[in-house]
Amino acid sequence: MSEDIRAKRVTMVFEGRGTPVTALEDVDLLVPAGSFGAIIGPSGCGKSTLLRLAADVLGATAGSVTIGGRTPAVARRDHKLGFVFQSPTLLPWRTVRQNVELPLDIVGRSRASGAHSATDLIKLVGLEGFDNALPHELSGGMQQRAAIARALMLRPTILLLDEPFGALDEITRQRMNLELLRIWADTGTTALLVTHSIAEAVFMADRVYVMSPRPGRITATIEVVLPRPRTLEMMKSSAFFDYVNRVRDGLFGREAQEMAQAASVSVEAY
Ligand SMILES: Nc1ncnc2c1ncn2[C@@H]1O[C@H](COP(=O)(O)OP(=O)(O)O)[C@@H](O)[C@H]1O
Ligand SMILES: [Mg+2]
Repeated sequence: MSEDIRAKRVTMVFEGRGTPVTALEDVDLLVPAGSFGAIIGPSGCGKSTLLRLAADVLGATAGSVTIGGRTPAVARRDHKLGFVFQSPTLLPWRTVRQNVELPLDIVGRSRASGAHSATDLIKLVGLEGFDNALPHELSGGMQQRAAIARALMLRPTILLLDEPFGALDEITRQRMNLELLRIWADTGTTALLVTHSIAEAVFMADRVYVMSPRPGRITATIEVVLPRPRTLEMMKSSAFFDYVNRVRDGLFGREAQEMAQAASVSVEAY
């Protein structure tokens, strides 16, 4: 069963020692159950903050975030949330299998009755044969595969991914994106991915949520109606470019783009 993610008029103010920072202001968001959502926006606009609110790592200053109608705290208690961070957060002294099984050790194996088998998950993410490898023996991409397997261990309905492949080279990243889509389709989770790549957002998502600079608000939601499974070939289609341009318009505004275009035309004419 999949569940939706909703944010209603969410505001997040960080009360630091200095002046308070409003990271999010009146954010409204709906990620339909079972869909793949992508959040894109400039650095510091509150993308990670929004994901942390959904993950119950932070509590909103105002407004509400719900997972299938329940609070993130309840969803987290029920192991409905899987989280993958930008840098793989594997424990260096534990093998791949031990890392993937970490959630079992945390909640207690007796209470994790519905959990996946680590063997199945290791296979799902393409790490067969590396059960006993230590993180430092793996490439960055492989480490993220293990982190994804770990996030899926307790069969979450929601997969939250904060720039999971940001540190990887372009080719590995493309491959990992395809793998992630396959895993998402296989597990039937609702996925919400933070990315700073427009092409990646369009390639992956059913809906791209465009955020404004801080204080972050969702300024555009673009529905991407491209067939699934997505293929790299689709990235060459005119439909794909249309979506990319729409996201770009949402991010930079049409005016700014037209100015940039005019500037480049005049440079060429020179
Ligand atoms: N724990 C925190 N305490 C104080 N300020 C924070 C904290 N977390 C994030 N911020 C601030 O909130 C804003 C949004 O941060 P973040 O959500 O990490 O942005 P993004 O992920 O889009 O780059 C930034 O100005 C950041 O400095
Ligand atoms: Mg971030």
